Amino acid sequence: MKIAIGNDHGAVELKNHVLHWLEDNGYEVLNVGTDSTESTDYPIYAERVAKAVLSGDCDKGILICGTGIGISISANKIHGVRCALCSEPVSASLARRHNDANIVAMGARTIGPVMAEEIVRTFLTTGFEGGRHAIRVGKIMQLDRGERLEE
Ligand code: RB5
Repeated sequence: MKIAIGNDHGAVELKNHVLHWLEDNGYEVLNVGTDSTESTDYPIYAERVAKAVLSGDCDKGILICGTGIGISISANKIHGVRCALCSEPVSASLARRHNDANIVAMGARTIGPVMAEEIVRTFLTTGFEGGRHAIRVGKIMQLDRGERLEE
């Protein structure tokens, strides 16, 4: 499985921790984040990870900024992205099982390295349940296309 990872200047250390964890666990990694602590703008990295996932080059994406908020909001502006901001593994599991999220976002200022590992492990090993959740995800994608929803 190939994973795209992106981050801003506030998340270089946690990105490197997660990147090494991914490689140690047999994942192929595409690092499109910054490796510098010089100030930069998180939407750039959200777009890069989204493009890597939506093009099919990568199977899933990981985004990290200071809080995970700006980078997840940015990613969710891109057609086809379902990015879930997670601070613990229960949400990461449900983001896959119920929302079929294709990108997980985390905050380097809000969680530590061990929590990040558990979130990423859970996100990458949990499948989508389909069924009634597929209907709801279909409606999310209708909104994504600017379509109106019927009740
Ligand atoms: C950068 O200073 C910070 O705003 C960013 O990493 C993130 O927390 C934004 O949501």
